[in-house]
Amino acid sequence: MVRIAFTVAAFGLTCAYARISSVSRTVIINDSPYYLPTEPLVTLGQDTHNITGDALPFTILADVGDGSGVKSSVENWETIDDVFNKEFLNTVVLAGSSLDASGDLMSFLNESGTQMMLTTTDMSSVFSASTFSQLTDADLPAGPYILAHDATGSLAVYAPLRLHYDHSQFLQVYGHEIRWIYEVVSASLDTDSSPYIAVPSRVHTLSKNDSELPLAGLRVSVKDLYYMKGLVTSAGNRAFYSTYPARNSTGPAITRLTDLGAHMVGTTKMVQFANGDRATADWVDYHAPFSPRGDGYLEPSGSSTGAGTSIATLDWLDVSLGSDTGGSVRSPAALNGVYGIRPSVGAISLDEVLPLSPILDTAGYLTRSPKLFSSFGKAWYGESFQSYPAFPKKLLVSDDFLSVTDAANAVYRPWIEKLRSFLGGETAGNYSIEGHWNASSGIQAELGVYLNETYATLVAYYQWTNVGKPLFEDYAAQNGGRSPHINPQVRYRWRYGESKGADGYAAELEKRETFENWTLSNFLTDNAESCTESIFLYPINSGTYSSRETYYSSPFIIPFGFSSNRVANLARSAEVVIPIGQIPFHSNITEVEEHLPVSISLVARRGCDFVLLDLVDKLADEGLVQEVKTGRTAF
Ligand SMILES: *[C@@H]1O[C@H](CO)[C@@H](O)[C@H](O)[C@H]1NC(C)=O
Ligand SMILES: *[C@@H]1O[C@H](CO)[C@@H](O)[C@H](O)[C@H]1NC(C)=O
Ligand SMILES: *[C@@H]1O[C@H](CO)[C@@H](O)[C@H](O)[C@H]1NC(C)=O
Ligand SMILES: *[C@@H]1O[C@H](CO)[C@@H](O)[C@H](O)[C@H]1NC(C)=O
Ligand SMILES: *[C@@H]1O[C@H](CO)[C@@H](O)[C@H](O)[C@H]1NC(C)=O
Ligand SMILES: *[C@@H]1O[C@H](CO)[C@@H](O)[C@H](O)[C@H]1NC(C)=O
Ligand SMILES: *[C@@H]1O[C@H](CO)[C@@H](O)[C@H](O)[C@H]1NC(C)=O
Ligand SMILES: *[C@@H]1O[C@H](CO)[C@@H](O)[C@H](O)[C@H]1NC(C)=O
Ligand SMILES: *[C@@H]1O[C@H](CO)[C@@H](O)[C@H](O)[C@H]1NC(C)=O
Repeated sequence: MVRIAFTVAAFGLTCAYARISSVSRTVIINDSPYYLPTEPLVTLGQDTHNITGDALPFTILADVGDGSGVKSSVENWETIDDVFNKEFLNTVVLAGSSLDASGDLMSFLNESGTQMMLTTTDMSSVFSASTFSQLTDADLPAGPYILAHDATGSLAVYAPLRLHYDHSQFLQVYGHEIRWIYEVVSASLDTDSSPYIAVPSRVHTLSKNDSELPLAGLRVSVKDLYYMKGLVTSAGNRAFYSTYPARNSTGPAITRLTDLGAHMVGTTKMVQFANGDRATADWVDYHAPFSPRGDGYLEPSGSSTGAGTSIATLDWLDVSLGSDTGGSVRSPAALNGVYGIRPSVGAISLDEVLPLSPILDTAGYLTRSPKLFSSFGKAWYGESFQSYPAFPKKLLVSDDFLSVTDAANAVYRPWIEKLRSFLGGETAGNYSIEGHWNASSGIQAELGVYLNETYATLVAYYQWTNVGKPLFEDYAAQNGGRSPHINPQVRYRWRYGESKGADGYAAELEKRETFENWTLSNFLTDNAESCTESIFLYPINSGTYSSRETYYSSPFIIPFGFSSNRVANLARSAEVVIPIGQIPFHSNITEVEEHLPVSISLVARRGCDFVLLDLVDKLADEGLVQEVKTGRTAF
């Protein structure tokens, strides 16, 4: 049954006749909501037609050959795609082949309740021959479509988008791509505040069966600092959102994904300007998204907050894009018990992406599937890295493991031993970066003192100078000299950055480079067979509870000091976060036993990203890592 729920958007009025030139609609098909975007795929012109109601769902079957493979393809669509359903088989268009319909096909369609089958020789009087040939000439890939009238009354074909409720409240903008421009989805249904997200059929790109589309059908959410043509970017700040217009181009990091067949389904909420807010204390401008893990009220972490919560919440989402300068992918990946990568700096162009510190910024992503984690990165980063014939044999096991709980070590220790055994290598236990630095850097200062202000200065000075200051000026120009609101953490960091000045910044740049050089020549050295001589392992989330309802006595944290997660930041190298287990805790909210993810980080030499991705892929084959679930528990 098809029901038009309501017409949501009508815009583009022309003054003389107030003619509506653009409409979008929400339609209900078999109790599921769908969205018809303003722009149809193909306009077929005026025609005599017999559409009952205002919208006719139909399926295109392209190049069916002798028809014998159709049944299994369509059954596959039902498992992989939440847009397609049997209702679309009521009307079937056979395109691209003059059909010598096989008995198999006919009986399958008969079983499926197909009422109308339209072929070149039989249009069933729904279309005239010329309209039908317009439809087939459009060469649409196989899959579900909707026939409806456009704003001018012409018959048109739409790609239906399925609407899903966003209960983790991760989305900032609900967009979809149409002709390389992103358009906001203006659908709403009964909600408690969270809107609906529209997702396209996976079948349309998958059924092209094109080896040049390795990411065909994948749904991807995008951190709201990647500029997307047609959308206004917030970067987590209301003043920034209101100051700058819709973006006029999409950067190469995103266009590469769409070129490879992926679909961007919306932009996710983030900590302001990719810094370090905590949910209740600091998210003043927007409400922080919810992590589904544990009791549902964990600190969701950041700055790729919505990236972490969305991938841990929504089964129909495959990948979420974040950015990692100082842990912004790794930390939400760890807290939400999913896979995450901070690639080496330079993995992919960050043109048209809001910067924090270009010398440290990276485009990372999160997934639930280890196989997809590997294949997605290899497709996205493309030629930036290469695979190697062997895996590194040496594991540098951080002395950080000495300070995690026994419960966490009961997860970590056996896993590390399995990894060592798989690699056929050796472990250096209780590895201390500080000790190694003391012994080999030739620098008198302790690492924590030497690099104390390096990260904080690099991000705060750069971003204040290149994003903050211009925003204050542009906002003042538009608002009678007023200053914009900036969340307390960011405001405080920017002031710190400003106080360091250009000289302070230059001094910290030099220290950073010294540390990177030391890492390359002493710590994560090279190997011709395996790219990186060793892998550094540390406990990135040992299953500790952090409540999002905590009120902090001090609002301000400048990210001083050195810790294991700073290696990949400052040496600009590759790090992957792997969820390997969980430990129980008693929630004071749900008052039952819940579970927290336990995650480990693997850090490799700069440029050895594919070695880590290949390793995760292989570990999935070996059963050492596995796909995680959405919802309260990862396993
Ligand atoms: C379409 O409508 C016309 C006019 O009502 C009718 O004669 C024709 O049989 C209909 N065709 C179909 C396939 O329902
Ligand atoms: C469709 O199936 C029914 C029985 O389920 C049968 O009576 C009918 O002849 C079939 N029609 C076609 C066109 O195969
Ligand atoms: C895709 O094409 C390959 C070879 O071109 C073929 O073997 C495979 O069955 C096709 N897959 C689908 C789903 O059509
Ligand atoms: C796109 O926007 C940028 C920044 O606002 C502006 O400098 C540029 O001229 C615009 N380009 C086009 C083609 O409109
Ligand atoms: C690491 O340190 C702990 C505690 O000092 C000790 O028991 C253990 O033997 C050490 N492990 C290795 C491999 O050195
Ligand atoms: C490194 O050297 C400093 C003295 O410069 C010392 O205080 C510190 O304990 C040493 N750290 C390690 C882990 O050896
Ligand atoms: C790091 O720098 C801050 C600010 O200058 C200072 O307060 C703190 O003591 C320093 N910490 C170390 C370990 O040097
Ligand atoms: C780091 O190493 C490069 C290449 O060897 C060298 O050119 C550069 O001067 C070094 N930087 C520092 C700060 O030592
Ligand atoms: C639960 O415990 C956490 C941390 O111990 C605390 O911050 C939070 O307020 C408590 N929540 C409830 C509902 O008691």
